[in-house]
Amino acid sequence: MLQKTKLVFFILLFILFYKNTFATKEYPVPYPPLTPGIFPCMNCHEGLEKNKKKRTLKEMHQDIKIENHGDRWCYDCHDERNMDRLKLANGEQIKFEDSFLLCGQCHGNVLNDWKKGIHGKRTGSWNGVKQYLLCVHCHNPHNPPFKPLKPEPAPIKPGATLLKPKIDNNEKKSH
Ligand code: HEC
Ligand code: HEC
Ligand code: HEC
Ligand code: HEC
Repeated sequence: MLQKTKLVFFILLFILFYKNTFATKEYPVPYPPLTPGIFPCMNCHEGLEKNKKKRTLKEMHQDIKIENHGDRWCYDCHDERNMDRLKLANGEQIKFEDSFLLCGQCHGNVLNDWKKGIHGKRTGSWNGVKQYLLCVHCHNPHNPPFKPLKPEPAPIKPGATLLKPKIDNNEKKSH
């Protein structure tokens, strides 16, 4: 009996150890909030000329304007070699799933807080599988200040509805 308990204990320990050691990704994230159909970008960009000039986009992406984000422009973040990737300042290509690395280059403190689950939103268990919302789930990279949601109206105090029951018109008619 004791032998069996020991065995179970070691198996559990092994599973825990295994899961933590061989976790495939350090910061698992949901799929990036890209507009459906826009990816792969290369469907269109394969044959398009690169245009690094700052301008108002007219033929596509008309909704994208860089606002409240300093002196940034498209190829500071997007990779001119492969539009399906983002680009770090050192030229390294990263996937859209790893966009937090891009943001962290300039917002290092926030990235550190994000990794610890202080900034942003982390779900899952403390010692198990976690999932992190990407920065871009909450901040538009092209206009990043967080836009607060419109607050719901305040709830009605239960007292007010309990003390003065509204007489239902239909009920009155039927008597
Ligand atoms: C349906 C076709 C289409 C798709 C899909 C598309 N683009 Fe574009 N993109 C364009 C066109 C056309 C322009 C040129 C717009 C202009 O100059 O007014 C453009 C311009 C751009 C530019 C400006 C720089 C340049 O070289 O003109 C960037 C950056 C860009 N796209 C990024 C992306 C990214 C990132 C994706 C995927 C997430 C994407 N695009 C998906 C058609 C597309
Ligand atoms: C500060 C970095 C940064 C700059 C500057 C920037 N982008 Fe982006 N862009 C991103 C990131 C990060 C994403 C991915 C968002 C996501 O994962 O949903 C993105 C997404 C996109 C998409 C996909 C949008 C969608 O609807 O899903 C397009 C198109 C795009 N960028 C075009 C541009 C163009 C054009 C410019 C220049 C006018 C530009 N970007 C400038 C970081 C940047
Ligand atoms: C190259 C540096 C750089 C990169 C990369 C960058 N940012 Fe920024 N970010 C800035 C600067 C500079 C400002 C301040 C701009 C201003 O105040 O006009 C800023 C402002 C912001 C703000 C608003 C801060 C406030 O006080 O309201 C947010 C949010 C933000 N960035 C998020 C992001 C996200 C998300 C990404 C990745 C997609 C990102 N940034 C990538 C430099 C950067
Ligand atoms: C779950 C949503 C969420 C996620 C994910 C998130 N943020 Fe934020 N962020 C916020 C909110 C809310 C604020 C506060 C805005 C305010 O106070 O007006 C904020 C504020 C900021 C600010 C300005 C204030 C400051 O602390 O400097 C920056 C910069 C910023 N976030 C960057 C990032 C970056 C970079 C990431 C990813 C590593 C990220 N955020 C992930 C929601 C989020």
